[in-house]
Amino acid sequence: MEKFDVCIIGGGPAGYVSALKCAINGLSAAIIEKERFGGTCLNRGCIPTKVLYSKAKYLKRLKEPERGFSVNGFNFNFDEIINYKDEVVSALTGGVEKLLKARKVNILYGAGKIAGKNGTAFRVEINAKDGLNAEISADNVIAATGSVPLMIPSFNIDHKNIITSDEALSLRTIPGSLIIIGAGVIGCEFANIFSEFGSEVRMIELLPSILSTEDKEISKFIQKNFKSRNIDIMTGAEVAGIKALGSNGKTGAEVELKTGERLEAEKVLVSIGRKLNTSGLGLEETGVKLDKRGKIETDAHNETNIKGIYACGDITDGPMLAHKASYDGIIAADNIAGIVKEKDYGVLPWSVYTNPAIGTVGLKEGDAGLSELKYSVGRFSYAASGMALAMEEPEGFLKVIADEKSKKILGATGIGADIPELIAEIASYMHFGGTVFDIESTIHSHPTLSEIVPESALDSIGEAIHKFNPRTAKKDKA
Ligand code: NAI
Repeated sequence: MEKFDVCIIGGGPAGYVSALKCAINGLSAAIIEKERFGGTCLNRGCIPTKVLYSKAKYLKRLKEPERGFSVNGFNFNFDEIINYKDEVVSALTGGVEKLLKARKVNILYGAGKIAGKNGTAFRVEINAKDGLNAEISADNVIAATGSVPLMIPSFNIDHKNIITSDEALSLRTIPGSLIIIGAGVIGCEFANIFSEFGSEVRMIELLPSILSTEDKEISKFIQKNFKSRNIDIMTGAEVAGIKALGSNGKTGAEVELKTGERLEAEKVLVSIGRKLNTSGLGLEETGVKLDKRGKIETDAHNETNIKGIYACGDITDGPMLAHKASYDGIIAADNIAGIVKEKDYGVLPWSVYTNPAIGTVGLKEGDAGLSELKYSVGRFSYAASGMALAMEEPEGFLKVIADEKSKKILGATGIGADIPELIAEIASYMHFGGTVFDIESTIHSHPTLSEIVPESALDSIGEAIHKFNPRTAKKDKA
């Protein structure tokens, strides 16, 4: 039986990054993947949605051309757009496989399962689709098996008319009408895409607002933006059940609300959260502890309660984000190699690709973490940025939160063109414990959207340069 220092189960952003980092750290590594490398992110999530997002933005520009232009007639071929999306996905997933090979990571295709111990090492079985099963042993195992769309029985997901985000990314034609259940991140990203391509979109959300985990002002901004685009939004609405319509000459699907109201559409997309892939890995048999939400409990090194078994990504605590998963993978790989590192999600940026896009890092107004702190909020509008006006992208704003005394940056959130890139800059300051004055003393190239960052930060102390109505907060250089 071949033996490795580390065996990684799952080849998504947590697994493949940890495998590469193990190899970089000089460890022998084997990675087991049952489908294609890249996981949800590359195959059915971040990347394919961004292809469609980018095409939808281009389409918006064609429909609403910039000043001085008129577009007289245009066409799009959605099938060709999906072909392009597939090409991008193949290029990137193939790239991951090449990277693994270049680093001499042993690749095994199949479903991995911890099958017990072989001395001090773990025995890992690989059940391949072609029946060519194998077994290896490893001193350490990293479980990085990710998540799948959550399904509930009464929603009768048939993957044809009642679909998840997986199928929504492979539709070859635009549905005439689309009901989206769940107005979280996935629901809102798809509402933006399909409404731009011409679907009549209706969203049904259980909670009182859409994007309820975002800043309240931003959630309202998107709600208004969606309504202006004729996206119908029902909040505080509970779904009793969904059924496919395949008889009496009807097609599509019907959603029944708890109130008895029935709504029909060509397709119903269910995006109500994700389910963790933790079963069948042999974890329970090995004694690995799960928390009450079914997530694998890990310590600051991403090691579980069983020495030598690590877990990373969606199946562990923290938000289900690709970059958080990769970060987890690096922490595990370093600790296995003896480079002691503790994880810290305090500065974790994230984005939602609506149009305009949303970006956030750290704390935002309304967060429990701010309740004990004295802070001030600076704000700057895209409409006051020369670059945003030149780009004809005046919509949006950035808010920066700073500690009132130390002026340390506690968080930032905003909406507007390329905002995720601005948030990335703020995340760097926060990582190094940066203050408003650190941002001020960093020279920002002109003209760029990045100038919005110092303006927003300085506004928290009343010193934004290009603001007619500055805050009156006193500068208190602690
Ligand atoms: P989510 O948790 O973001 O949103 C689900 C929404 O569905 C919530 O607003 C919830 O109140 C609602 N809901 C739940 N049950 C419902 C029901 N029965 N009827 C109506 N509404 C119901 O989950 P989502 O959108 O599926 O995304 C899953 C994860 O994927 C997120 O946690 C996110 O971290 C990640 N993701 C991140 C992206 C990004 O960073 N850009 C993009 C897409 C996903």
